[in-house]
Amino acid sequence: MDLMEYQAKELFARHDVPVTLGRVIEDPADAADAARELGGRVVVKAQVLTGGRGKAGGVKLAATPDEAVARAGEILGMDIKGHTVRRVLIAPAADIAEEYYFSLLVDRANREYLCIASTEGGVEIEEIARSNPDAIAKIPIDPAAGVDEGKAAEIVAAAGFPAGSSTVVRRLWDVFLAEDASLVEVNPLVKLADGSLEALDGKVTLDDNASYRHPEHASYGDQTAADPLEAEAHAKGLNYVKLDGSVGIIGNGAGLVMSTLDVVAYAGEQYGGVKPANFLDIGGGASAEVMANGLGIILSDPQVRSVFVNVFGGITACDAVSNGIVQALALLGDQADKPLVVRLDGNNVDEGRKILAKANHPLVTVADTMDDAAALAAQKGA
Ligand SMILES: Nc1ncnc2c1ncn2[C@@H]1O[C@H](COP(=O)(O)OP(=O)(O)OP(=O)(O)O)[C@@H](O)[C@H]1O
Ligand SMILES: [Mg+2]
Repeated sequence: MDLMEYQAKELFARHDVPVTLGRVIEDPADAADAARELGGRVVVKAQVLTGGRGKAGGVKLAATPDEAVARAGEILGMDIKGHTVRRVLIAPAADIAEEYYFSLLVDRANREYLCIASTEGGVEIEEIARSNPDAIAKIPIDPAAGVDEGKAAEIVAAAGFPAGSSTVVRRLWDVFLAEDASLVEVNPLVKLADGSLEALDGKVTLDDNASYRHPEHASYGDQTAADPLEAEAHAKGLNYVKLDGSVGIIGNGAGLVMSTLDVVAYAGEQYGGVKPANFLDIGGGASAEVMANGLGIILSDPQVRSVFVNVFGGITACDAVSNGIVQALALLGDQADKPLVVRLDGNNVDEGRKILAKANHPLVTVADTMDDAAALAAQKGA
């Protein structure tokens, strides 16, 4: 589960990582009180589960309470990479001297943890990696030993952080370990004018497999309600994930869905970088109802321009899936208004294709292979 910035900072505060919590509001009018309470100059920050908020215009300074209301009005409702901003954080404007980058993550390939740190923070780490790779320190962490005083000192030295930073490093490690996170990222971790450090941003991914150990994390689940489609899918027991592109993806089984995302992104390069808009795993039993629910959700995403249904018939045979698609389209009626590219293979594929051919729905194109289907879906999604 990914946390929003304000939730990540709440966790930080519990582990004594220096942060300024500020206030989260949903109505621009509330920005005035929040700004007054926080003492004047504030920053208004979009709370969405995607990066690059600043670049997208989702982080703005406000010098007065009136300005805070105006900025909050601009940012609330804004679309950032397909995520609608429903909440903004109002935080005191910090007196920044320097911006650093810091993260702790699971390094699966090497079966250990990894700390990535740099004094060139503030921008995306990928950008630093390109422009100045030597400025990034990567320090492996032995899972059995963790970050003790020695390791924290090693991180501080490797990164070039100011002396005295090791306490904050160790507290961020506490967050990572005690909260069962798989990622703790702070960009920027800033040095303030008075020389002290503060986490000005926070990105935390909690390991859902450990959620049973953290009943106190349950409230963070509320944020799925921040994307109404994800909430609706969740309520219907569907695995739906919102992405940033324009091709809706429905598949059965996590492996197939993941490779479908890859082939669509690859095919989309020909059409100026068309990418998946979302994906929905309908699992093993693709009944008409499941298909209708799935299609209904995918088609309600305003970013979707085309849909790719990629099904490999196994226990649920292709004819059942085709019947599901035909009935789903009948159920949806005018709600189904975007082209569908269907690729079927596996158990009873011939019968499945016959059913779709017979139905001859004007929105449906059947493709022979996964690559053909991806190319078509990308073309229609451009
Ligand atoms: N409280 C603050 N006071 C002053 N400036 C701030 C504050 N918070 C953020 N900023 C400035 O805005 C920039 C962007 O903020 P932040 O890192 O929180 O968002 P972002 O990086 O654009 O979003 P994301 O991390 O999701 O990509 C920071 O690098 C910093 O310069
Ligand atoms: Mg940031």
